Amino acid sequence: MTTGRNLASQALPGGGIAGIDIRTPNVARMYDYYLGGKDNFAADREAAERVIAAAPVTREVARGNRAFLGRVVRFLAGEAGIGQFLDIGAGLPTRDNVHQVAQRANAAARVVYVDNDPVVLSHARALLATDERTRVVLGDVRKPGDILTDPEVRSLLDLSRPVAVLLVAVLHFVPDHEDPYGAVRALVDAMAPGSFLVVSHIEHRPELATAAKPYDRANAPVVPRTFDEVARFFDGLELVPPGLVNVRRWRPDELVLSTRLDPDVPCFGGVGVKR
Ligand SMILES: C[S@@+](CC[C@H](N)C(=O)[O-])C[C@H]1O[C@@H](n2cnc3c(N)ncnc32)[C@H](O)[C@@H]1O
Repeated sequence: MTTGRNLASQALPGGGIAGIDIRTPNVARMYDYYLGGKDNFAADREAAERVIAAAPVTREVARGNRAFLGRVVRFLAGEAGIGQFLDIGAGLPTRDNVHQVAQRANAAARVVYVDNDPVVLSHARALLATDERTRVVLGDVRKPGDILTDPEVRSLLDLSRPVAVLLVAVLHFVPDHEDPYGAVRALVDAMAPGSFLVVSHIEHRPELATAAKPYDRANAPVVPRTFDEVARFFDGLELVPPGLVNVRRWRPDELVLSTRLDPDVPCFGGVGVKR
């Protein structure tokens, strides 16, 4: 983790943290732990270790997902010519954040990060929103209308022009009864033709059921889905080759190929374009 400022720096004398629930495992901080970051607490680490014990592949899933995000953003900002990004469920700042990857390919790229976790918001504001082309907004993917009408989103992104909406490792925190499909449809409806939707999502595998259990006590449950269930998020869109695949198989770069990483991580990823 290279944020240069971790959660411990906000600790109060009594051991608590202002406005932060450090006793409930938190999905953003558990993911940070999987990635080797320091922005997590004992409750996050304990829950994360239980997940890893039940599914030793977990860290590989996190790394594979993060690498997928990097390759997708490079493709979108470069080859696909996308200059604006709406990253919902952005997560705690880490290495190669979306605006950094995008702006390497297109210096003018604009990025709005959205997350429903106040901890993510404060860290992201301090570390990510460092230029006039990057903003951080509190928002919930279950309330797409609020995100789409948010004044900060509207001030930076022109939704009458192509945009990339990133829903990377976030929809598996939204159970069916909270209507993730309706939320994605509302976002897609608001996208101009030529826009892209990016989704990555934990795969449902019966043998990994125990690994999902610790999330029942976290700030959000995890809801793994089958290939067909994840594919439904792309309804009405055309999938960019190679389609919806294991994240490690989405346009693997030299790093993936040369290190002979096991491609079989239980996480799907895909990119759809709106025609
Ligand atoms: C596993 S992290 C993924 C971070 C980043 N997208 C990535 O793939 O590297 C999931 C993030 O989604 C956020 N999140 C969970 N539920 C959400 C919701 N309903 N609306 C917005 N963000 C949410 C969490 O706070 C966390 O930061």
